[in-house]
Amino acid sequence: MWPLITWCLLLMFLTVVPSVSCLDNNDILQLNIPPEEPVIDPNTICKTFPDLSRRQYRLCAKFPDVVASAIQGVQVAVHECQHQLREHRWNCSSLEKKNKNPHASPMLNKGYKESAFAYALASAGVTHQVSKACSMGKLKSCGCDMSNHGQIKDNFEWGGCSHNVEFGDRFAKKFTIARDRARDIHGRINHHNNRAGRMVILKNVRKQCKCHGMSGSCEIRTCWKVSPDFRVVGDILKDKYERASLVDLSNKADKKSRRRLVKKQNKSELVYYEKSPNFCDPDPLVDAPGTTGRYCNKTTKGPSNCDTLCCGRGYNTMKIRRTERCNCKFHWCCYVVCQTCVYNEWVTVCK
Ligand SMILES: *[C@@H]1O[C@H](CO)[C@@H](O)[C@H](O)[C@H]1NC(C)=O
Ligand SMILES: *[C@@H]1O[C@H](CO)[C@@H](O)[C@H](O)[C@H]1NC(C)=O
Ligand SMILES: *[C@@H]1O[C@H](CO)[C@@H](O)[C@H](O)[C@H]1NC(C)=O
Repeated sequence: MWPLITWCLLLMFLTVVPSVSCLDNNDILQLNIPPEEPVIDPNTICKTFPDLSRRQYRLCAKFPDVVASAIQGVQVAVHECQHQLREHRWNCSSLEKKNKNPHASPMLNKGYKESAFAYALASAGVTHQVSKACSMGKLKSCGCDMSNHGQIKDNFEWGGCSHNVEFGDRFAKKFTIARDRARDIHGRINHHNNRAGRMVILKNVRKQCKCHGMSGSCEIRTCWKVSPDFRVVGDILKDKYERASLVDLSNKADKKSRRRLVKKQNKSELVYYEKSPNFCDPDPLVDAPGTTGRYCNKTTKGPSNCDTLCCGRGYNTMKIRRTERCNCKFHWCCYVVCQTCVYNEWVTVCK
């Protein structure tokens, strides 16, 4: 962690180019070094991924490296889910079980608003991660998106290595369809939310540029496309989660009219079809832990307010000791020295 940050700082000091981005190794990629043949045996690698459906396993046998990226994308999504719902009664922590595939978790076999959110986030995560891995030269089946390469616009030229969001999108679609066939209503709702998630990536692709010319004069700019920062994707989907629409299927008994009802929904918005339980108590059926032991906040108006989060059971107040790295100083050149600060804090914890 620290060496990377130090390098980034060093890079920023040494470069006058305004758009230097430490996480993007675009310069290296422009050399077009052919990616090394990945030395992975599909059979060994695919067996280490838990709970792949039969069709996902087949996909893995053909494209083990892409599936590995896809699964990383699901994990990134689970972490983002935990961040976005950190104040909520159900906070996505149950999706992160050791040796469990989040996609196979019981929450995702439900039609709740939370399930819709997690689904959309997961498919966005797959799109994001696969697109990025393509452009980093990590995958056999794809590379940079060169579709605009060399095209000259008013004040810049498309160049460098664009994130391959089209490939990412297609693969994410395949990977998630291989999990659920869209025959029943649950499958159709999942497809809808999957697509809504992938669309957030496609619609928020950014342009990143680099200046050339005498001492950063920026006479010539080269630009390439990058997938949006995943926090941005999480924020957008969180908004969609809050305004997700409940598709009421109760008085639509026949399959055809149910299907039509799902089809009618706005393609970029999230939909769900089951009212969520209150998530107050542990529920083994959906693997929900309940809210006992959660930190709550007495003053906030948000969902982590003690009255809301503790479901009226009340809370305990206790003193905890928290340590943190603090007062970090950057020394030229190149190391960072931090102190350890200790805080004694009062916290409130749900009964
Ligand atoms: C989420 O909930 C779990 C289980 O109740 C808890 O252990 C965890 O600390 C919570 N995470 C956050 C960020 O509050
Ligand atoms: C779908 O939702 C988006 C907001 O995400 C909105 O801008 C758009 O107008 C909606 N489309 C329709 C057909 O209602
Ligand atoms: C509780 O919520 C208030 C208002 O949102 C906020 O200012 C405060 O920092 C929160 N306290 C903790 C311990 O998170």
